[in-house]
Amino acid sequence: IVSFFQPKLLAGRRVLVTAGPTYEPIDPVRGITNRSSGKMGFALARAAQHAGADVQLIAGPVALPTPWGVERQDVETAQQMHDAVMQSAADSDVFISVAAVADWRVAHASEHKIKKTATQAVPALSFVENPDILATVAKLPNAPYCVGFAAESGDLETNGEQKRIKKNVPLIIGNLGPATFGRDENEVVLFDATGATRLPRADKNALASVLIAEIARRLPDATL
Ligand code: CTP
Ligand code: CA
Repeated sequence: IVSFFQPKLLAGRRVLVTAGPTYEPIDPVRGITNRSSGKMGFALARAAQHAGADVQLIAGPVALPTPWGVERQDVETAQQMHDAVMQSAADSDVFISVAAVADWRVAHASEHKIKKTATQAVPALSFVENPDILATVAKLPNAPYCVGFAAESGDLETNGEQKRIKKNVPLIIGNLGPATFGRDENEVVLFDATGATRLPRADKNALASVLIAEIARRLPDATL
């Protein structure tokens, strides 16, 4: 039978994506955050929707429009992102963890704005570790197919594979920051059980389609 329609790679799949940074308050007007424009995560959500998936996008603070047909939920902190992800992770087929999650939050965020005073010394912050969302999802008894991102500033080849093992996920997409942060282009390396594969530098939207195809063909019950 000849079909006029391109078979959709992710038809019937539920895909959960996190994107953007998280924001951890110091006081009501100040906070710490990670560098991430959200462009790669939003492009992946859009590409997954194009590929026929039912896509849920959980986004940290970013200035980007919601891709058509994607269900979006906005969060600020890593804890909020964790809670939102855990609501639907077990019911998802694929989890793509693109968000640059802040590893630490301020231990005792101030309820009131911290004021400069002539007498007081500069404030000292202490931190507590945030939950590792990707590692938590990967440990679920009925875990979706988990894809992690690794933005490294040093030895990508070593760090990417080490991160894949540490998080216990089948696929890590590595890129070298900060050169690509906020840019429209990206250059990535795929790390899976078979080794490392470098993809050619491409526009984040074009790259997202390639990555969705790479993810789709690795799914346990892939049809193509
Ligand atoms: N990640 C997460 N929750 C966290 C930290 C990271 O879900 N609290 C996810 C990211 O979305 C990414 C992957 O884990 O997909 C790797 O993030 P990265 O920051 O590179 O790894 P870390 O384990 O936090 O190691 P480090 O920052 O020390 O390099
Ligand atoms: Ca981190």
